[in-house]
Amino acid sequence: MNDRKIHIESVCAAEPKVSKTTEAHKNPIYASSTFRFDSIDEGISIFKDQPGGHVYTRYGNPGIEAVAAKIAQLEVFGSSTSAYGLLTSSGMAAIYTAVRCVLQSGDVLVTQQNLYGGTTELFEKILPSENIQCLALDFAEEGALDKILSKHSRRNMAIFIETPANPALQCLDIQAVCELAKAYGARVIVDNTFATPVLQRPLLLGADLVAHSTTKYLHGHGLSTGGAVIGRDEDIMRNKAWTFMKLTGCNSNPFDAWLLNTGLKTLALRIIRQSENAFYIAKRLREMKGISRVLYPGLPDFSTHAFASKQMSHFGAMLSFEPGNSLMDAKTFCNKLRHCTIAPSLGETDTMVLHPATMSHLKVDPSLRQHYGITDSLVRMSVGLEHPDDILADIEQALAV
Ligand SMILES: Cc1ncc(COP(=O)(O)O)c(C=O)c1O
Repeated sequence: MNDRKIHIESVCAAEPKVSKTTEAHKNPIYASSTFRFDSIDEGISIFKDQPGGHVYTRYGNPGIEAVAAKIAQLEVFGSSTSAYGLLTSSGMAAIYTAVRCVLQSGDVLVTQQNLYGGTTELFEKILPSENIQCLALDFAEEGALDKILSKHSRRNMAIFIETPANPALQCLDIQAVCELAKAYGARVIVDNTFATPVLQRPLLLGADLVAHSTTKYLHGHGLSTGGAVIGRDEDIMRNKAWTFMKLTGCNSNPFDAWLLNTGLKTLALRIIRQSENAFYIAKRLREMKGISRVLYPGLPDFSTHAFASKQMSHFGAMLSFEPGNSLMDAKTFCNKLRHCTIAPSLGETDTMVLHPATMSHLKVDPSLRQHYGITDSLVRMSVGLEHPDDILADIEQALAV
């Protein structure tokens, strides 16, 4: 039987054996949906011990897990704390996974009103249909968070915050929010997309979970869509979050994880240089004729500068400003930019602008937009790695009448 010749179709269909004499210097892409077992007994033991050994990429994949562990390591860098990570298909999937692994039907999510527009929509349109009550408040209002936590203290609660917030960059005191949350037994989830773990590490300030859109700075090159959830609690991460991800199928994939890792290698260099560029531009914009307002956490008179100074090592590479006083002024300005690109994302190597009121925050109640300074003339800028004088020159020529 062993000597029987096989047919050409069978040779075509087979997976050839890889001859590996030495380890690859760079991690390969594990582009396999399935992992093979040497025997049924091996399969039984690996299936029994999930998450762990590899069975199927939706459950786990060596390349994806290596990158998730690297982001977890970054989020607790400089401490002896351990953290666990999961990569998801997008930032939205990461936020949803983080929320749903700590909240069930009947629970309460307390959050700020000025979040990324997509997150607000998720909380308003999806969570209520799962009987999770979503309460949005202005965290700047003295005692508001305490009042709401106290009112619902008999229920299981989580707090979701984003700092700096998209697009007006208001910052929240992560440590103070976590201390208050602990007093009420509430969990805290922080969207750390804008700061990245190089500038700010919420888990070390008391947060339970961190969510990222890795589509932004962590990958940094605009070639990949993804998200990450990082947490300190092994049961939450390895059982609840992993089970949610596995069963909803919102996992990452081998290629995006590989791209993400390529970007992560330069994350520290990029975010620090981009933050320096943004700070330089923010200061220069304040002196520029035609700019009526500049929002940047590093400016000493920015409303929440004190919180940013307390918890961030640099002030980030996002800034917002008003080139005039009307929607038409903002439109004219953006349309005249030659170097900076109008594109609805952020965190890439080149400078991108977006008009929040008509793009990312279009679905947000106009009165709320107004309250948080997301005016019709506000333009958001994701500052890139170019020489900042070239970005300023582009802004100047776009302002010129
Ligand atoms: C702060 C923040 N969180 C989450 C997201 C959602 O990320 P993704 O588009 O990767 O789903 C975004 C998208 O812009 C964002 O700005």
